Amino acid sequence: MSIVILDFGSQYTQLIARRIRNMGYYAEILPYDAKIDAKSTKGIVLSGSPYSIYEKDAPKPDESIYTLKVPILGICYGMQLIAERFHGKVGKAQKREYGYAKLYLDKTDDLFDGIDDGSVVWMSHADKIDSLPDGFETIGHTQNSPFAAIRNLDKKVWAIQFHPEVSHTHNGSKILENFVSKICGLKKDWNMEDFLEKTLNEIRNEVKDKKVLCAISGGVDSTVLVVLLNKAIGDSVIPVFINNGLLRKDEEQSVQKSFDKLGIKINYVDASEIFISRLQNIKDPEQKRKIIGHTFIDVFKDFVSKFSDVEYLAQGTLYPDVIESVSVKGPSDVIKSHHNVGGLPKDLKFKLIEPFKFLFKDEVRQIAKQLKLDDSLINRHPFPGPGLAIRIIGDVTSEKLNILRQADAIILEEIKKGGFYDSLWQAFGVLLDLKSVGVMGDKRTYEYTIVVRVVESFDGMTANWTYLPKEVLNTISTRIINEVSMVNRVALDISNKPPATIEWE
Ligand code: XMP
Repeated sequence: MSIVILDFGSQYTQLIARRIRNMGYYAEILPYDAKIDAKSTKGIVLSGSPYSIYEKDAPKPDESIYTLKVPILGICYGMQLIAERFHGKVGKAQKREYGYAKLYLDKTDDLFDGIDDGSVVWMSHADKIDSLPDGFETIGHTQNSPFAAIRNLDKKVWAIQFHPEVSHTHNGSKILENFVSKICGLKKDWNMEDFLEKTLNEIRNEVKDKKVLCAISGGVDSTVLVVLLNKAIGDSVIPVFINNGLLRKDEEQSVQKSFDKLGIKINYVDASEIFISRLQNIKDPEQKRKIIGHTFIDVFKDFVSKFSDVEYLAQGTLYPDVIESVSVKGPSDVIKSHHNVGGLPKDLKFKLIEPFKFLFKDEVRQIAKQLKLDDSLINRHPFPGPGLAIRIIGDVTSEKLNILRQADAIILEEIKKGGFYDSLWQAFGVLLDLKSVGVMGDKRTYEYTIVVRVVESFDGMTANWTYLPKEVLNTISTRIINEVSMVNRVALDISNKPPATIEWE
């Protein structure tokens, strides 16, 4: 039994599912026009959207959702869809309403059980409802939105203009929980202990005595995957760690060490030379990414050819990768072609095992905790598949890799020392393709610049640069310039995402 969230393309859709799951209820995301199975669905949430319902290709749900007698909650655009469907008036707003508002309750409703009158909600919408749809009544308003929350008890439909899923809405989780438990009657049955047990059994039943190959990057997902497979099928999992020569300082040793500690033997392939030689003189970020992706596949295929008895390939695919391929896509540009160890080509002819394909990253972290993995591993910052190559602007050389590794290690060391690491999304150095003049001991220098990039983020989709105390920045800068040869200048990146991105390439 689950809550289905129909995805109309809002950047917050995944957040709705995560909030509901974090409370212990199962929620899944389906494309906006999915046909819903009323037998397994206890409630439907219509997400927000970047569209206006007036746009020509505005996404609309399948009409059947309104006849299933399953409770529906429309959020923002979802509310406007409901208003339009039931003959209310949706007005084209002149100005976007964006920010905090106070929600005043007009009627008692299960949705707002335990919510104070005047509690703070977060608005982000352009269109709004101008007249109530047929059979609906107002249950809440704000200063600017007379119909901020409406309901039709006969049809079991609720709709709200604000976003309960974002943390700016105080008690937003409570509102979602009220919908899920009080209105839809869903019972709590989603937890990672059960998921782990169930998954271990499924893997054992599927794999039996066959072999499973699994590429590891040293990141959380692939490490947890190998540990889980090892617990399920012991030595039948063959983990392989490909060193692409683009790793951080001492990373290959630390990955090896953490698996040694876990008592899991990994296969190590040092392919650094081939990666670096193929990247010679390549300056274009997309070209770098493509070369690294293709080279990874070549090296992986070569490794695989040594085995004749492998039937399965395990990949740490996460739920967001799966949903992204079905949800509403605007005419957006490819900003960066991502490369992950999971992105292996289909022609490898293995059967796939993807135990995390219904999980969010925070749920994989919970599994890691259950498997008693080190906190240092669980809380590790993300590191991109193309590694340091996309943090070296311009062409990648062994000399530049060496410079960046040293500088990056200093940045991380000082950030850990200051106790900032765990609260940050990422902290790293970027090496610019530019030299500038400096002076050291009366001598002119003409050397590289390192940029310090430190960001906070919830999911990497948006990010804010983080303020670090001057002393910490000062130590980082002094140490880099003193300890790393060929660097005479350190700069700080103070741009948010958007409009910048986290990585520089
Ligand atoms: P951007 O630079 O797009 O990065 O703001 C968002 C998050 O994604 C990570 N990233 C990658 N991760 N393969 C990955 O596995 C990639 O190709 C890749 N490119 C960016 C980045 O580190 C940040 O956390």
